[in-house]
Amino acid sequence: MSGFSAPHCGSLRGSDEGREVELYGWVARRRDHGGLIFIDLRDRWGAVQVVFNPAQSPKAHEKASDLRSEYVVRVGGKVARRRAGAENPRMATGEVEVVASDLEVISVARTPPFAIEDEVEADEALRLKYRYLDIRRPKMAQTLELRHRVVQAIHRYMDGHEFMEVETPMLLKGTPEGSRDFIVPSRLHPGEFFALPQSPQQLKQLLMVAGIGRYYQIARCLRDEDLRADRVVEITQLDVEMSFCTEEDVFTLIEGLWATVWKDVLGIEIPTPFPRIDVQESLLRYGTDKPDMRYELEIADVSDILRQTRASVLRGALETGGVVRCLAVPGGRDMSRRELDELALLAKGAGAKGLAWFPGPLDRHLSEGEMSTIKSAAGAGAEDLILLVADRRRKAETVMGLLRREIARRRKLIRQGEWKFLWVYPMYLFQEDDLGNLTYGHHPFTSPWPEDMDLLTERPYDVRARAYDCVLNGVEVSGGSIRIHDRELQERVFEILGMDRERIRAQFGHLLDAFEYGVPPHGGIAAGIDRLMMAITGTENVRDVVAFPKTQSHQDLMLGAPSPVDPQQLEELHIRVVPPQKPS
Ligand code: AMO
Repeated sequence: MSGFSAPHCGSLRGSDEGREVELYGWVARRRDHGGLIFIDLRDRWGAVQVVFNPAQSPKAHEKASDLRSEYVVRVGGKVARRRAGAENPRMATGEVEVVASDLEVISVARTPPFAIEDEVEADEALRLKYRYLDIRRPKMAQTLELRHRVVQAIHRYMDGHEFMEVETPMLLKGTPEGSRDFIVPSRLHPGEFFALPQSPQQLKQLLMVAGIGRYYQIARCLRDEDLRADRVVEITQLDVEMSFCTEEDVFTLIEGLWATVWKDVLGIEIPTPFPRIDVQESLLRYGTDKPDMRYELEIADVSDILRQTRASVLRGALETGGVVRCLAVPGGRDMSRRELDELALLAKGAGAKGLAWFPGPLDRHLSEGEMSTIKSAAGAGAEDLILLVADRRRKAETVMGLLRREIARRRKLIRQGEWKFLWVYPMYLFQEDDLGNLTYGHHPFTSPWPEDMDLLTERPYDVRARAYDCVLNGVEVSGGSIRIHDRELQERVFEILGMDRERIRAQFGHLLDAFEYGVPPHGGIAAGIDRLMMAITGTENVRDVVAFPKTQSHQDLMLGAPSPVDPQQLEELHIRVVPPQKPS
């Protein structure tokens, strides 16, 4: 018995009429009909109808009457055209059926916990527990196949541009990418730990020092971060680094890559080069550093128009150093009070003090002149409603960005089927973390903008970086930078980030030393394959594009991981577990 050279169930067509075949697959459905038994036989490539006729093959027919869903079988038979009117246009194999002469049950199956069909909505936790059944659903199998096609197209493109794939180790020393490290205890070095890579960042830079010149890797990265809809702890990245390059080289490479992937895999031409916007402008006009360009909706700053206004909520914010930003909702005058209250709630949920609008409550506080200047700044038409937020600049940006997205969604302004790529460049070198401390924007190896070098110590937040993000339909699908390749500058940046000499030496001594042995200027980028697949398949759930994902609470429901380990194993690792204190 060998199914390797057998045709796939899903591959049979009208042109196969008369062909004797041996098929292997899973019973997707059985129907008994006027003495005949029909089954749909499914494999990764699709399903085909098989018919058992008691008059032609009584033995096979008798066995078929015991078949149940998800049994694995071998069927021998002949491909026939279905009779007129019995074709199924919803199946790729719908013109034909296989008239069975022989049947062997290879493996029986219990009733699956959910129906293995695309149309049936099953609870996600159940799907994850029985992921091997979930992957039998055509949609899941097709998504994995699409992911494979994308990755294959990437390999071909990178190889075609003389990039060499180099595998980097999984057991590393911590590398800062803004998340927590997963750590692995060393058995042979008690009390010492490896860190799993958050990314191969330092290794790919060291490969440039090593003279590799053009590196890539489909790399697995592990980041112990709180999961959100578009985040995973195990990321797959296309990781790229090259020597003697500028930003323009990276842009050209990546634009060509996405254009090739879209053409090869989806048959879609995407225009290049991609538009560019600097991060400051992006935050002002779209309220985010990942703008979705599938709809217009632009935010305007109207602070200067309102400095002397009678509207005290707006003036108050300006007097304390804040800003007033506004957005015209196309045709928004028809919005109900309830809808506006919901928007106000959304704004407050994001930390805004409130949401103001006109026509509406603001009418009696604003002069005619103010209203008309605001309207023209916002590019508003006669039927539009103007939303205003007065707050600290960063808060106002976040809130306006959120409102912009929500309005686009509610008013169905998003042009589905469009692919809007853009570069956000330059970015800032530093940013504030959640506690208000200075931290890096991209990662600490990113080169400052040469003209801003003088600001490094005095006004670090104003220093631009040679860093870029590639955004697709509002999702950051890749990010990278031109790196620092000068030991002194790298040390200075570490120091600005608050590290002392000792820590710098311990954590990054290898990189700094390498910079003393002839280092080429270099830069690169990494693209999140999971996020890319989310955009391509149009899902908002990253678990839809990963074969064996973790849940939101970092668990593998199928394997039952994480799980306690054998005490002996802990002993060998010199680890003692202190159970968390139960709240009294
Ligand atoms: P960065 O951290 O920006 O850069 O990651 C690059 C891309 O990887 C994807 N990504 C994620 N996708 C899903 N879940 C996550 N938790 C997650 N984190 C990141 C995003 C992102 O754009 N070493 C640098 C790259 C470089 O400078 O060359 C890095 O990893 O699509």
